[in-house]
Amino acid sequence: MIPKIQLIDVQKEFVSQNDVLKVLESISLHVHPGEFVSILGPSGCGKSTIFHILTGIDQQSRGQIKIDNIPLEKWQGKMCYMQQKDLLMPWRTLLNNVILPLEIQGVRKTDAVKKVRELLPVFGLEGFESVYPNQLSGGMRQRAALLRTVLTDSEIMLLDEPFGALDAINRSQMQQWFLEIWEKFRHSVLFVTHDIEEAIFMSDRVYVLSQRPARVAKEVRIDVQRPRKKEFLVLSEFLEYKKELVNALK
Ligand SMILES: Nc1ncnc2c1ncn2[C@@H]1O[C@H](COP(=O)(O)OP(=O)(O)OP(=O)(O)O)[C@@H](O)[C@H]1O
Ligand SMILES: [Mg+2]
Repeated sequence: MIPKIQLIDVQKEFVSQNDVLKVLESISLHVHPGEFVSILGPSGCGKSTIFHILTGIDQQSRGQIKIDNIPLEKWQGKMCYMQQKDLLMPWRTLLNNVILPLEIQGVRKTDAVKKVRELLPVFGLEGFESVYPNQLSGGMRQRAALLRTVLTDSEIMLLDEPFGALDAINRSQMQQWFLEIWEKFRHSVLFVTHDIEEAIFMSDRVYVLSQRPARVAKEVRIDVQRPRKKEFLVLSEFLEYKKELVNALK
């Protein structure tokens, strides 16, 4: 099977006037079509940098990236990308922030608004359509950014700690909700998280990165049937995966 996303020995160093910061030592990983893959790693090891390279914000120092077996430089498509910071536009209301990808795709505004209104309750944002980002809580901003990402038309989804600002209850609800959406549409997902349990619950496979300069310390396949329910979190299998990942993160 041709991977949807493939990184082959990707290295990255940031060079400034009097310093070289080696961030990625060597990253080789892949995501198959329709697969949900997580990247777990210590803070500052280079997880967001990988996404910046994939989306063209930055470039690797060495190594190769392929999408559908086409070198990234030649690939013409786009990716849904949710940055670690939500990047909502302060001058647009929540509704107008969220419909942006639909506007870009050329969807009629009335149709875009209708589609978004249907999804607002699912994201706990109903009634906040006309509110500006600075009047929203951190969690609400993140949910709005996630809603906006989900509306981008692409088979590839890059999510950088999408639930990072949510409390445990909201987080668990969003995880389950997001898996339902994913099971319907089967995006190829690359998902960055700090949270070991989240990585196990959501993923088909997890890559554990080492401290900076990052390399893949371990790859773990989460061989558990879908759809997954919360009960999975208390099974002995779950604890085994958790032990394996905790040990790999040391
Ligand atoms: N444009 C840049 N120029 C110089 N250094 C950078 C740049 N971008 C990131 N870095 C450095 O690269 C390292 C990795 O940063 P990155 O944001 O990828 O980490 P991360 O794994 O996403 O961390 P976190 O989990 O805290 O979000 C950090 O030391 C950061 O300071
Ligand atoms: Mg980051």
